[in-house]
Amino acid sequence: MSEGRLIVVSNRIPTEEAPSGGLVVALHEALQARGGVWIGNSGARVSAEEAERGLTRIASQPYERYSFDLTEQEHQGFYLGYANATLWPLFHHRTDLLEVDSEDARIYQEVNRRVARLVAGVVRPGDVIWIHDYHFLPLAKELRDLGLGNRIGFFLHIPFPNSSDLPALSERKLLPSWLAAFDLVGLQTRRDVSNALDFLRANDAELLLEGRIKMGDRRFEVASFPIGIDVEGFMKAAETHADAGEHLRLSPGERLVLGVDRLDYSKGLPQRFAAFGEYLSQRPDPQVRATLLQIAPPSREDVEAYKEIRQELESITGRVNGEMGELDWTPIRYIRRNIPRETLAGLYRRGDVCLVTPLADGMNLVAKEFVAAQDPADPGVLILSHFAGAAEQLEAALMVNPYDPSDTAKAIEVALAMSLAERQDRHGALMKAIRETDIGWWTDSYLKALQKPLENGGK
Ligand code: UDP
Ligand code: G6P
Repeated sequence: MSEGRLIVVSNRIPTEEAPSGGLVVALHEALQARGGVWIGNSGARVSAEEAERGLTRIASQPYERYSFDLTEQEHQGFYLGYANATLWPLFHHRTDLLEVDSEDARIYQEVNRRVARLVAGVVRPGDVIWIHDYHFLPLAKELRDLGLGNRIGFFLHIPFPNSSDLPALSERKLLPSWLAAFDLVGLQTRRDVSNALDFLRANDAELLLEGRIKMGDRRFEVASFPIGIDVEGFMKAAETHADAGEHLRLSPGERLVLGVDRLDYSKGLPQRFAAFGEYLSQRPDPQVRATLLQIAPPSREDVEAYKEIRQELESITGRVNGEMGELDWTPIRYIRRNIPRETLAGLYRRGDVCLVTPLADGMNLVAKEFVAAQDPADPGVLILSHFAGAAEQLEAALMVNPYDPSDTAKAIEVALAMSLAERQDRHGALMKAIRETDIGWWTDSYLKALQKPLENGGK
């Protein structure tokens, strides 16, 4: 390990509210364990003069935290526009939702340039910089242009797009040089690495051995580091909050099917609700009552595609409840609010089934949290989409094609009828998988790889 500090940069940083979103949850746990500096967006909107003022220190325990502000125009162009209406849909295979706007692209690059100046102001020689997610693809390039020779790593929390989607990105010609400015590009899965290598190969990069890449005078590395959770900590939280399920006041024998997702079109929620409706209408024993509890905190509500998904979901919920509900039973309980993670831990433990059915997802921490929260003596069943990054590791889950509601409906039936022995076998295998790459492993193995001797003559 080098003597320098760890400087983490991401758009979202934890606030007083409980964080929801895989990136903040995972990095908070990592920085809590090792200390360091975390720089991110304050969420405040300020004038152009105020934005130039620099970083604000917001906390110093158990790690230092600094924030920068955006102007209203930057918030629109950088966050709502380029990051979440261009890059997010493109990287999640939703080119149909892509908004292309050259002004947003310009603002995105300008915000990266300004943030680079602010970050450079706190970096000392020997510090290691770890930049996170699609908001900051050009940040290392900007830092290099300012003369920084520090080691700079990147971790992309979302999928790396495949070569057939990338031509829809007008700035795709810039992407190779943005990536090459990092020393290590970390991705979630082997599939992401393969997509990234295909893209780089097609853009004049020379692939050396073991994910090492040569591009012009830069050498860097691309590798997968599947993100994990604090397994032991989450198990304890689930035991401590085991009574959370009592608030639901389920009737005796009522089965609980859970879903926990930001309200995002990548999560496959309409298909999931339709699948649950199909399961209910075809269940072999109509006396069986299974309730779907869906927790879906709102996300990015000022982006058009997010308004549409909300309306769609509310309409399916109304239809299923109207058709299938009874005087004393509401089949879909839909909560559009953030629930603290400790409460979630207890709810997971009460769940008979968890539906993690995204159409595309970098990893999906909910899948891992559900597994960790189970009582090994009587575990629930995880139903998992082939398209979640977690599917590469959690092979013992019941795998489904989330686009096909009949497939998911069938899996719900199988899960609710599964024998105790099979549930325990699957749970044992899933626990082994989530322990292998927990949050401690993720941070340590990434930072170890980032701090390997460099071939770029870095300091
Ligand atoms: N989460 C939460 N409260 C909620 C909903 C979600 O704390 O009401 C947390 C959840 O426990 C998980 C994270 O938010 O740790 C979501 O991460 P995931 O990787 O599943 O999806 P993302 O939101 O990053 O796409
Ligand atoms: C995903 C992304 C994160 C993002 C989070 C919440 O986890 O990978 O970068 O922070 O969603 O989204 P938000 O736009 O609210 O930060």
